[in-house]
Amino acid sequence: MRNIVLTGFMGTGKTAVGKILSQKLGFVLIDTDAEIEREQKTTITDIFNRLGEAAFRDMESAVIKRLSVMKKAVLSTGGGAVLRPENMDALRKNWVIVCLAATPETILRRTCASNNRPLLQVADPLQKIRELYDFRRPYYEKADIIINTDEIGPLKVAEEIIARINEVESR
Ligand code: S3P
Repeated sequence: MRNIVLTGFMGTGKTAVGKILSQKLGFVLIDTDAEIEREQKTTITDIFNRLGEAAFRDMESAVIKRLSVMKKAVLSTGGGAVLRPENMDALRKNWVIVCLAATPETILRRTCASNNRPLLQVADPLQKIRELYDFRRPYYEKADIIINTDEIGPLKVAEEIIARINEVESR
């Protein structure tokens, strides 16, 4: 089985699904945000506040480029990682690109309890989710496999991903 990279908007379940996938496949799990926080010794929110989004995107690209050579890995990316073509270009050859999707309402419900997503710290987060999602949709749609997570939990999503990859690889 090839490496798997999970893409998709904030709150679509990448972290939870990534954990299950890595356990089921015996693959190492890496999260780009966690990797950036470990390297920078601070939080994503602090990086956005002090250095701005562009600096964060540079860090994200550097992490993805470095990790793209890994083997037997599941990589969970931040919701904006798809925006830079260089990120997905680095992964497209050796990784199956999976995108998790959900409606803006589901995303709001899943993200509203925490304040660790700087882009959603606005007066009207639902409106912001809709705007960002509309802009990003074409980037998310470039994935090899797209799975909607509104109605199904992380275990079923992980099983569906494995089944879909097996199906593609057995052709
Ligand atoms: C972002 C998503 C976040 C994090 C940062 C920016 C985005 O990751 O990388 O706050 O631009 O959508 P999650 O998708 O894991 O929440």
